[in-house]
Amino acid sequence: MDFFELAKARYSCKKFADKPVEKDKLEQILEAGRLAPTAKNSQPQHIYVLSSKESLALVDQITPCRYGAPVVLAVAHDKNSVFEYPGGAYNSGAEDAAIVATHLVLGAKAIGVDTCWLNFFDPDKAKKLLELPENELLTILIDVGYPDAAAKPLPNHDSRKPLAETVTYR
Ligand SMILES: Cc1cc2nc3c(=O)[nH]c(=O)nc-3n(C[C@H](O)[C@H](O)[C@H](O)COP(=O)(O)O)c2cc1C
Repeated sequence: MDFFELAKARYSCKKFADKPVEKDKLEQILEAGRLAPTAKNSQPQHIYVLSSKESLALVDQITPCRYGAPVVLAVAHDKNSVFEYPGGAYNSGAEDAAIVATHLVLGAKAIGVDTCWLNFFDPDKAKKLLELPENELLTILIDVGYPDAAAKPLPNHDSRKPLAETVTYR
């Protein structure tokens, strides 16, 4: 699959099959995340692979959006290892985590594994329940698994604004 085929094929899966993700596939997905660029190569990400019964039960307390996924990746970042933008008001933490997460979801699709990116959760509650260290902030959860036979993209999957609405040439 070339990049554009991959980008088109990825969709947010909202119904996963009751089938585990093989360890080697999971490791390939994590490797795709490892290759992601980060600001100043600071690599502030910390990815928690949640797949035990206990961890998935915690995820279900954090968000209603697991959709039966056998694995959830929690993409946190170390607040102390981020790049601070000039001006001091912003930093690259959530941005770095999002690039890593993008690699994870596209890497997964490239090897036939579906995902759903989630932010419908309270980061502070999630941090507490998952017992993350004080210096970490969790902004992204990713459901990972094989699609149920009935899974399909939502109708809005093909609905993207034309470039003229989102791009300005100056
Ligand atoms: C930043 C972000 C947050 C999202 N959060 C959720 C979520 O919490 N729950 C959910 O079911 N889908 C979530 N999604 C999936 C989006 O609803 C979905 O990407 C969008 O509707 C386009 O559909 P597609 O991914 O199939 O193209 C999220 C996607 C992104 C990129």
